[in-house]
Amino acid sequence: MKTILTGIKPSGQIHLGNYLGVIKEIINFQNNYRVLLMIADLHAQTVPYQPSKLRALTYELAASLIALGIDPQKTILFRQSDVPAHLYLYWVLGCLSYFGELQRMHEFKEQAEKFKKEGIGSGIFMYPVLQAADILIYNADLVPIGQDQLQHLELTRELARRFNQRFGRVLKVPEIHLHSETIKIMSLTNPDKKMSKSDPDGCLEIFSSDREIRDKIMKAVTDSEAEIKFKPDIKPGISNLMIIYKHLTNKTLIEIEKEFSGLGYLEFKKSVYEAFMNYFNKARKRKKEISKDYLDRIFAKGAKKANYLANQNLAKILRIVGLR
Ligand code: TRP
Repeated sequence: MKTILTGIKPSGQIHLGNYLGVIKEIINFQNNYRVLLMIADLHAQTVPYQPSKLRALTYELAASLIALGIDPQKTILFRQSDVPAHLYLYWVLGCLSYFGELQRMHEFKEQAEKFKKEGIGSGIFMYPVLQAADILIYNADLVPIGQDQLQHLELTRELARRFNQRFGRVLKVPEIHLHSETIKIMSLTNPDKKMSKSDPDGCLEIFSSDREIRDKIMKAVTDSEAEIKFKPDIKPGISNLMIIYKHLTNKTLIEIEKEFSGLGYLEFKKSVYEAFMNYFNKARKRKKEISKDYLDRIFAKGAKKANYLANQNLAKILRIVGLR
């Protein structure tokens, strides 16, 4: 069975864009692959953070993933910090990576600019090397990621090839699976930008209160016409709500236009809200029933399995690089 690995940083609440674009896809993979789903808590440390918040967000993310349909019986759900082998390989790969290539990473440049005042930690610089280690320590076949992580994945492949050339063929060069860009959910307040936690008012968090979800949908930016028509160029707000409604109801855009012909934006928005609540009702209930104890058991089980797999590979790596 092929191995899929991906990581999610515990840096905020899961929103609709994350779910439709990423999580739903991973849930589908569970039946046909061995899925390793990692909570990238070490990557979350690369920018200034509060320890208690990091801990809370880690549990929060695990509970959200399970409530949404990640099945811990099928998927190995684990915390990155529970598997020390990642850090071992991180060092080995760090010694193989060039200063120049790490400096050229878009995300490094962006983060370095953002944290200029606070000081740019070397964690920000080494971030993609740790990401490469996360993947290569399991010999993952396939890595599902968003477009923004493409450069990091190309570096991962390059480091695997470089390692193999230098020491011998031990690491698998992983394939990249880009999340389908057709499912691009835009911000409710800035429909020309992707939905993201950096723009809270435009971001529909799946587990926030009824009231908040309702308010955000009702306040979503529209236009001065009064027609529910899919025209992303001139009606980006309504078109985005239509895309959201389409995914929540499985209706086609044409069916949606028909359903709301002659009706106003208010009616349409109410229906989007209701569809959201119907769709996520079960997950929202389930999440409330997930206890910290249960999550601790899931983490312990995930850590055991992930360590077993990673340590097998690590033993080979240590031998071939001359440490054993
Ligand atoms: N950097 C990724 C992100 O921000 C998260 C991540 C960490 C990851 N390690 C990974 C993704 C390994 C895929 C594989 O989205």
